[in-house]
Amino acid sequence: MRLIIREDPHAASLYIANYIINRIKAFGPTPTHPFVLGLPTGSSPVGIYKILVERYKAGDISFENVVTFNMDEYIGIPREHPESYHTFMYKHFFSHVNVHPRNIHILNGNAPDLEAECVAYEAAIKSHGGIDLFLGGIGPDGHIAFNEPGSSLASRTRVKTLAYDTIIANSRFFDNDLEKVPKMALTVGVQTVLEAREVVIIITGAHKALALQKCIEGGVNHMWTLSSLQLHPHPMIVVDEDATLELQVKTVKYFKSIEKVAASQGFEQILPSAVRTGPRLQTKQIQPAPELKESPTILHPKPLTSTLLSAPATEYPLRSVSPDLIPDRMGARIAAY
Ligand code: GLP
Repeated sequence: MRLIIREDPHAASLYIANYIINRIKAFGPTPTHPFVLGLPTGSSPVGIYKILVERYKAGDISFENVVTFNMDEYIGIPREHPESYHTFMYKHFFSHVNVHPRNIHILNGNAPDLEAECVAYEAAIKSHGGIDLFLGGIGPDGHIAFNEPGSSLASRTRVKTLAYDTIIANSRFFDNDLEKVPKMALTVGVQTVLEAREVVIIITGAHKALALQKCIEGGVNHMWTLSSLQLHPHPMIVVDEDATLELQVKTVKYFKSIEKVAASQGFEQILPSAVRTGPRLQTKQIQPAPELKESPTILHPKPLTSTLLSAPATEYPLRSVSPDLIPDRMGARIAAY
């Protein structure tokens, strides 16, 4: 886990925007080998989108060969609704950069068959070779995407009923009227996020300090779904000072020292180059691993462990069984008199 602490939300957003730009550039995406970027909505990422748009307009970055997958969408409000996540994404990002409309993926909360929509979304992610970097935010209750407290950590894209806390939090976008807030949404699952090669989360503000504390200092717990990131090999959380208010001083000092030591040695905290350059097959060559043959459904989700965390496909020779590990009666070990 990397925890990057910056003075304020702007500095945190700047760090992430630069990080994403550097990642895309290092990847060197092409039409047949695009960079696959997972994207969130919410007020937290707005600053990041703003910087990405500025850098695009300045000619520093192109999204020509970037494919995007959004985290979630409300059910039952029209796509054109001012608070739909479709509207949000076009308003803050897509309309201002050169990402191809055909490369944009957002769940359709008005699909006639919502389960089929979710299954197709997972399949689309898979057909693009998986997500290279999933950017996310969290709710004050530590939920990631719309994976509310109590969500299965093995969950995949599905229909989700929103928690009362989330409805209250999001009512600010619906004239502070709880009745107007959609009660259900489509969302990628925790497992969907965990399967991204990298996960980068922005958390700002004192109202999210408890969630950050639970997710970093607590154990992996489905009541704080962000805590599942502890199981990911390359998670990074970027926060402002206010978000650290509930952390132990030693936790804050430790994560700050990691950055300081790395800088003093003349290198940044970087990922292994294999991850940075996206060691995946090109889309057309992708052969689904045997266990991925069947598309998961809500009733038959893919089992718990992410492919990143599961054992490599390599066949290891069977280890010979050590006699010491075979349970026996202790009496058998005592030499007979
Ligand atoms: C919603 C979204 C989440 C987002 C959260 C926090 O619940 N589904 O993806 O992280 O809002 O939003 P904000 O950044 O506005 O606090």
